[in-house]
Order: sequence, then structure tokens, then C-alpha cells
Amino acid sequence: MRRDVRGRIVLLTGASRGIGRRVAQRLAKRGARLALVSRSRNDLESLRDELAGAEAEIFPCDLTDADARAKLVADVVARFGGLDLLLNCAGVCSFCEFADSTDAINRQILEINFFAPVELTRLCVPHLTRSSDAGYPAAVLNLASLCGRCGIPSLAEHCASKHAFVGMTEAWRGEFARFGIDVLLVLPGLVRSDDLNRHLLKNEGKVYLDFEGAQPSDEVADALVRSLERNTRERAVGFVSWWVWFGKRMFPRAVRWFMKRKVFKFQRRMAR
Ligand SMILES: NC(=O)c1ccc[n+]([C@@H]2O[C@H](COP(=O)([O-])OP(=O)(O)OC[C@H]3O[C@@H](n4cnc5c(N)ncnc54)[C@H](OP(=O)(O)O)[C@@H]3O)[C@@H](O)[C@H]2O)c1
Repeated sequence: MRRDVRGRIVLLTGASRGIGRRVAQRLAKRGARLALVSRSRNDLESLRDELAGAEAEIFPCDLTDADARAKLVADVVARFGGLDLLLNCAGVCSFCEFADSTDAINRQILEINFFAPVELTRLCVPHLTRSSDAGYPAAVLNLASLCGRCGIPSLAEHCASKHAFVGMTEAWRGEFARFGIDVLLVLPGLVRSDDLNRHLLKNEGKVYLDFEGAQPSDEVADALVRSLERNTRERAVGFVSWWVWFGKRMFPRAVRWFMKRKVFKFQRRMAR
């Protein structure tokens, strides 16, 4: 099946920067009608200016606030007259060993990466169902992470939030089939985002990760839009992500060994 986004109403979270911003640029080129969401009004305004010519409206909103989420969905539907696609791309990350982290960070990550997108989806389901009833292949696309399929040292809280998100996504597939809503999942590995380090809640992980060799966010945005257009249920983006995703299923012991090796490699480097 091919899904055409031209003229379709898309609610995109995490639009202000990083992967979400690149997704907005691609969807605008394809003629989608965009509701762009994040907290920072300035970044959203600059994106809207950049997308001049496309139909794009900004909705600054803290997605962890339940009232703000309800108002967001009502405002988007009032502005555009419905909703065809929901792309849950907003998220945060903390790079730190669990023992050195805090209860507050753990809860903050769960709030943004899990509760916010799933509760937003709950609000959107009736509108997406109406789109499906009218004959469009409505969909929810969740941008999770390889961390949602594999536990990675120094990303424990992120892994927990993304595993929960992936579990919810899989359960929705069966539930939402009844409403005619497709549920898609995208799993990038390490991504070179706009300013990855500046937005990490903590940046003191003790594992060797190759940030320099990370994937460009443009590649992830391309893959995400491809998933949407081709209705791909689950896509691990990039070679490393795909390898770990596949290896976890076929050779779980090898993947566990690989992860421990990365922790010891980091220790050896520090000891030099
Ligand atoms: N970067 C990676 O290595 C990587 C790897 C795998 C998966 N991912 C996932 O991909 C997604 C996007 O990551 P990214 O690298 O593009 O991150 P990013 O550049 O830091 O962008 C995160 C986006 O989420 C928004 N956001 C954060 N908290 C929010 C809140 N409470 N309410 C509303 N919006 C909020 C941010 O906007 P404001 O700050 O303006 O609110 C921003 O637009 C995340 O879910 C992340 O887990 C990233």
C-alpha cells in the first residue's frame, strides 16, 4: 500500500528541531497540511517561515501537560477540520548510568517519552477514526529508538521509556485495526541531531558510543517519511540499528557481550 500525504492533515510533535524538523520539511514539500508542535515558539516560528508556501500552523505546547494536550487537539481540529496522521516524534534523552541518575530524571523521561505521546494518541483516535471512515488510511507513527528493542548501558531510563512505548505501539496494532488506523514504528540508532549534547538531561554516560559516526538526522527523516508512505510496520533505521535489532532476535548472547564490551572499552580509555 502507498499512502499519499498530499492535502492530508498531519499533527507532528517534536517539530522545532532535530528529526522532527526534517520530517516537517519533507512533508511540506509533499503538500501535507501541517500542525507543528513543540514548546519553543521561536523555533516553530522560524520553521513556519522556512516552510512558506506550505500550509503549516504552529501550536506551541508542553506535551506533558494534560490540559495543554487536550487544548492542542481541539485547536488543531478546529483549525484544519480534522486529523489524518499523528506523528509522535518529541522526546528527550539522558546519557548517564542509572546509579548516578535521579528519580526526577527517570520520571521526566517517562513523562515525555511515554505518557505524553500515548495520552496524545488517545485524544487523537476519534479524529483519526473519522479520517479512516472517510476512506483515508489514517495512521499513528511512533518515533521510538533502538533503545526500545535493546537495553543499552548508560541509556537505561531512555530504554525503559522506549520499551514501554514500543509495547504500547504493538498492543495498539490489534486494537486500532478495528478503527482502520495503521500503527507504525521507527527505530533509529544513534542520531546526529541539531545539538544532541545540549538537550541531554544528563551527559555523563560510561559507555563507548561513537557520536561522531552517528547517523545524520536527514537520513532518519527520509526513512520515517518512507515508512509513512509505504506503511512499514516497523523499521530499524541505519546499519548499526538494524544489526543490533536483528542480532537481538537471532544472537542475543552476542549482543549482550557487545554491550558489555562497550562499557569496558570506555573504562580502558578513561584509565589511559
Ligand atoms: N538523537 C538520537 O540519537 C535519537 C536516537 C534514537 C531515537 N531518537 C528519538 O527521536 C526523537 C527526536 O529526537 P531528536 O534527536 O530529534 O531530539 P531533539 O533534537 O532534542 O528534539 C526533540 C524535540 O522534542 C520536543 N520536545 C521535548 N520535550 C517536549 C515537551 N515536553 N513538549 C513538547 N515538545 C517537546 C523538542 O522541542 P522543544 O524543546 O521546543 O519543546 C524538540 O522539538 C526522540 O523521541 C528521541 O528519543 C533520537
